[in-house]
Amino acid sequence: MTARILVLNGPNLGQLGAREPAIYGTGSHDDLVSECVAAGEQLGMSVEVRQTDDEHAYLGWLHEAAQGAVDGLILNPAAWTHTSVAIRDAAAMLSIPYVEVHLSNPLAREEFRHVSFTAAGATGIVAGFGIGSYLLALRGLAERLQPR
Ligand code: DQA
Repeated sequence: MTARILVLNGPNLGQLGAREPAIYGTGSHDDLVSECVAAGEQLGMSVEVRQTDDEHAYLGWLHEAAQGAVDGLILNPAAWTHTSVAIRDAAAMLSIPYVEVHLSNPLAREEFRHVSFTAAGATGIVAGFGIGSYLLALRGLAERLQPR
């Protein structure tokens, strides 16, 4: 069966391309979506990408995932990574693998970005490769969900 992967992007990631391109790159969120969907096809997985600036919506998507809607998750909670106990608690309900990704390397940036509330339950973390972080995370999930 084709593994279903949901990619959940948090606040300001819809502005990719226009937003601090020296840090986040020049690719748009639409580019991110098409690269993830294409990589999923190569890996035999169906990939859906969602983005919101609304924490309530993000929590609802995590609840759906916790109830078995998908087989694996890629989370970029963006600024909520460093602030949200609510998203951490929702991620703790997941029994499926999830990878936390960041376009930039938060550990190489301001000190407030060095803490992740959300990574503790992750299967893995990929950071610093721009949109490539998502593609590496998809590969990792493919290995986990469809071992060779
Ligand atoms: C980010 C890193 C966060 O610190 C920041 O708040 C973001 C994006 C990243 O993908 O590099 O919005 O998650």
